[in-house]
Amino acid sequence: MIEFSHVYKTYPGPVHALKNIDLKIAKGEFVFLTGPSGAGKTSLFKMISAFDVATSGLVQVAGIDLSRLNENKVAEYRRKIGVVFQDFRLLKDRTIFENIALPLQIRGDRSQQIQRRVQEVLEQVGLSHKYDQFPDFVSGGEQQRTAIARAIVHQPGVLIADEPTGNLDPKLSEEIMDLLERVCSQGTTVFVATHDQEMVRRRKKRRVDLKDGLLVGDQ
Ligand SMILES: Nc1ncnc2c1ncn2[C@@H]1O[C@H](COP(=O)(O)OP(=O)(O)OP(=O)(O)O)[C@@H](O)[C@H]1O
Ligand SMILES: [Mg+2]
Repeated sequence: MIEFSHVYKTYPGPVHALKNIDLKIAKGEFVFLTGPSGAGKTSLFKMISAFDVATSGLVQVAGIDLSRLNENKVAEYRRKIGVVFQDFRLLKDRTIFENIALPLQIRGDRSQQIQRRVQEVLEQVGLSHKYDQFPDFVSGGEQQRTAIARAIVHQPGVLIADEPTGNLDPKLSEEIMDLLERVCSQGTTVFVATHDQEMVRRRKKRRVDLKDGLLVGDQ
């Protein structure tokens, strides 16, 4: 489903954020991405979400070479995947409900369908009571759960989540990880970056480790 071969990403500086990354993730797999701050986790996710292109090497998702997509195709591709950004990126002028509904509206679902599906996801992330609030007026953890809900509402084939539990207390973190595992068991390939070593150990899933832009572990 996700395949990197000999991928390098160099930012001006130069900063070598990713170095010779080889990685294969199968359809329906659940994988953690760990590594210290600055190791390259977000950079690697930006390659998968086509928010940036590799300096060299090949990144393929579902058989698509992401470096070959034109602007329209990139937009179409992004609409099909699910992304939880490290900084949430919610729309401030829309309610929590409207933020979560967005991927469904864009693909043209009927409003009744949207209503039903958004309510379902709001329940899953425990935010039903906040549906009409604006992001700036809810807590960091609630914003984070809104971002997660928006990323899963359209049942994407691939979900990448950058520190999805960074702002949540331990109990909520566990609930959200359970939810991501359920999303995975319904067929979505899930790739989660986290600093939470304890949780990674407990969950007993595949874990890919980055350090200084190098893939240093895969177990
Ligand atoms: N747009 C950019 N321009 C220049 N350097 C960048 C850019 N984005 C990231 N970097 C650098 O690339 C390296 C990897 O950054 P990245 O954001 O991928 O790390 P990370 O593992 O996600 O860290 P964190 O755990 O703090 O989120 C860092 O040295 C960072 O400063
Ligand atoms: Mg990061």
